[in-house]
Amino acid sequence: MISSLMNGRRGMDLLLLDAGVLAHLAPSGQEGAIAGQPILDREALTYDSGKGILIRNGMIEAVADSEELQEEFAPEVKLSGGSVNQVSTSSLEVWDLAGRAIIPGLVDAHTHLLWSGDRSNEVALRQQGHSYREIADMGGGIGKTVSATRRSTLEQLVEEGLRRTQVALGNGTTFLEAKSGYGLSTESELRLLAAAEKLSKQTTLPISHTWLGAHATPPGGERSTYVEEILSEQLPAVLEQGIATSADVFCEEGWFTLEETEQICRASTEGGLQIRLHVDEFGDCGGAGLAAELGAVTADHAAFSSDTDRQACHEGGTLQGFLPGTPYVLGLDHWPPFQKCIDEGWAWSLASDFNPNCHSLSLPFAASLAVHRSNIDPLAALVACTRNAGVGLDHPAGLPLGTIEVGGPASLNILWGGELDGWCQTPGQSPFLATFCEGVKLN
Ligand code: NIG
Ligand code: FE
Repeated sequence: MISSLMNGRRGMDLLLLDAGVLAHLAPSGQEGAIAGQPILDREALTYDSGKGILIRNGMIEAVADSEELQEEFAPEVKLSGGSVNQVSTSSLEVWDLAGRAIIPGLVDAHTHLLWSGDRSNEVALRQQGHSYREIADMGGGIGKTVSATRRSTLEQLVEEGLRRTQVALGNGTTFLEAKSGYGLSTESELRLLAAAEKLSKQTTLPISHTWLGAHATPPGGERSTYVEEILSEQLPAVLEQGIATSADVFCEEGWFTLEETEQICRASTEGGLQIRLHVDEFGDCGGAGLAAELGAVTADHAAFSSDTDRQACHEGGTLQGFLPGTPYVLGLDHWPPFQKCIDEGWAWSLASDFNPNCHSLSLPFAASLAVHRSNIDPLAALVACTRNAGVGLDHPAGLPLGTIEVGGPASLNILWGGELDGWCQTPGQSPFLATFCEGVKLN
């Protein structure tokens, strides 16, 4: 199990001492996503300052009182009580955190990682009053990115992807979902998945792959013909290729209908893929209800879904995956119903939705939108970007994601400050002093 961590790379054994607040997010007896009032429960989800963490072979071996750990493993080290200090003993690298807070590595559960081109001109079109649909019909939108992406070589896609994973890691992300969706033909969708897999072998960031062949109708094509091609040719080829573990469809009026989405998803499930859906981004077309019915892992965007469909998601174990970066860049003053979800006990997650329109791979930024625009507690936003986001995203070694617990991977972030709340209150810059991904220090 351990040898599959970080493509075989392992960090030195580590001892983190004198932490500030430590958000472990692993209350005993809890399985899966945390929903409702428990998402705000600091006593159950965090430790007060004074803890330490012992890390061996990229895994967390102990989370305990800092003084006890120091006595046992590094009695010769003197703590400064002031600035962060790094010392090495013969067998361990010791970090004196001098009261800096620790949170789990962030999990970005929704990204469109690989594509080429530049659509930054579309902001002016939006400012002139053109809608997302109109811009697509004018030759922009997804179709424009598809044309640019098809012109790129696999090597160019991997190179750009590597740069992007560095940005994600630099913002505290230690696990990421990446969708295809800018190929829109069997050959180019397979190529995007192959590029993502090649990238995942070169980056330190573990990646989970999702096939999004049904992102739009290919430029110049007919939707019904394309759906037929997806079912008869593209999906079987994706299954044979064996890289994607999930399937996604853009289920929205003007893109793929409920019926088409259902057909593609049922065939994907039969082929062994999990379902993650784009639903109800611009209007309520019943997509979240369909996601629940299909047993999808997540109904993403879910900006306009009805309360009945949200309740159905809750009952069916489907997360509502909120992507506030999208309304932010599109200039829509319509934020996801975070508080309502907390009040109703509905599970939700938060992700970046990195794409050619929403050019941010920063989860602290996505969370700041929930915190600063919708008055959500930073702890709730943190659970949404870590433990909850990790539900249904399978770690290659079957390890837990988005928590700090004994037996889990040592993927964590150290903040500049001593309180966890600061993790999403520095929009535009990273709040992290250091990030460890499975025991390896990345920045
Ligand atoms: O999640 N809405 C569908 N897909 C992306 C945007 C794709 C694009 O505009 O290129 C999203 O927002
Ligand atoms: Fe998306």
